[in-house]
Amino acid sequence: MTDLRAELCQNLGKWCQIHIEPHMEHDDAEGKFRMEIFQGLGAQGYTGITVPEDFGGAGLSYADYVAVLEEMAKYSVAYAVTVSVSNMVQTILLNYGNEAQKQKYLPALTNGTEIGAFALSESHAGSDAASLKTMAKKVAGGYSLNGTKMWITSAGVAKTYIVMARTGGEGSKGVSAFIIRDGDKGFTYGKAEKKMGWKTSPTRELVFENCFVPEENRLLAEGEGFKVAMGGLDRGRIAIGAIGVGCAQRALDEAIKYSLGRVQFSQPIFDFQGLQFMMADMALEVEASRLLVQRAAELIDNNQSPSKLASMAKLKATDTAMYVTTEAVQIHGGVGYTSEYPVERFMRDAKVLQIVEGTNQIQRVVIARHLKKEYAP
Ligand code: CAA
Repeated sequence: MTDLRAELCQNLGKWCQIHIEPHMEHDDAEGKFRMEIFQGLGAQGYTGITVPEDFGGAGLSYADYVAVLEEMAKYSVAYAVTVSVSNMVQTILLNYGNEAQKQKYLPALTNGTEIGAFALSESHAGSDAASLKTMAKKVAGGYSLNGTKMWITSAGVAKTYIVMARTGGEGSKGVSAFIIRDGDKGFTYGKAEKKMGWKTSPTRELVFENCFVPEENRLLAEGEGFKVAMGGLDRGRIAIGAIGVGCAQRALDEAIKYSLGRVQFSQPIFDFQGLQFMMADMALEVEASRLLVQRAAELIDNNQSPSKLASMAKLKATDTAMYVTTEAVQIHGGVGYTSEYPVERFMRDAKVLQIVEGTNQIQRVVIARHLKKEYAP
């Protein structure tokens, strides 16, 4: 790890210990999101890591960014996800936005005064994202949007939304991407989801009823919205992998600490070989996942296509998060199942990492499609 990256993570860890950790048990129980925590992360420079300084970002590498996300997730998977989805919106604006769009929307996102959200999924269009039905009908000066988006992370607290809607015929080629702002006429929020985990991160529906979107708020040309979404997800999936590594690392730390202190049959339970083998395997999977996430991030830093490795990193690291958190609860025994120890929260938070930004089954589809292309005669 570079000195700069180590310092970034160390400072962030200290900040999270003071500003996030003390709230998590209460806020998880209450489902409370604190804007001041997100804005605090922004003030420390952690909400716009990869965006160039011209747009208010820190201008650091993607490899730095995944290290930062891993550290953040050790304290709160939910706040790390809020930062990562907002960062995905920033990378979309940076890679697909025109100069005016970048100037207008990026600075408030990079400095963390505002949050960004990404709206692709609909009730009937989850894994099959290209079947989305939200309509963007051409009208004078822009488009009129009608439809409902589902399971949108940060809905209601975000200000800038990247929304995929249909401007053409069926399938991926009929999809366009739009920038929509909180408060736009015809744009409201639907029901807030009650979830197993990520309780401090709001998840809601977006409802569009004759919502006017000016032409200047379309990203790229009509019909290029699916490419925008997939390009964003290529980067977002690596970030979700990094969060999986942080979640798993925290659970491993807790399991080792607990097993060294817990005495049964006159010895710390760590000294039973059965538990040692469990923790050795957990540590192995965390390290392997971290390396894969870092490798995928380096592809972005080297301007190479990250798609296949992004899916591999997301799949491996989030399965690791589920496996390690489950084992950590087991090692804690009865108290692991209570909120007295944080491992049950991390176990609940791990589950949806295997689902968001493409289920781990969809990641296998993406990997297999790349393999087929690579091995095509
Ligand atoms: N980059 C750029 N373009 C891409 C691309 C990529 N990574 N992947 C595909 N495309 C392009 C293809 O080249 C193709 O264009 P052409 O026809 O011009 O070649 C077009 O997009 C359609 O591609 P496919 O034929 O592969 O599309 P498909 O319908 O078979 O779907 C899929 C592919 C991988 C299954 C895709 O639908 C998918 O990723 N599904 C999962 C959806 C998802 O990840 N949702 C996440 C929601 S957001 C979220 O979870 C955030 C959160 O809350 C935390």
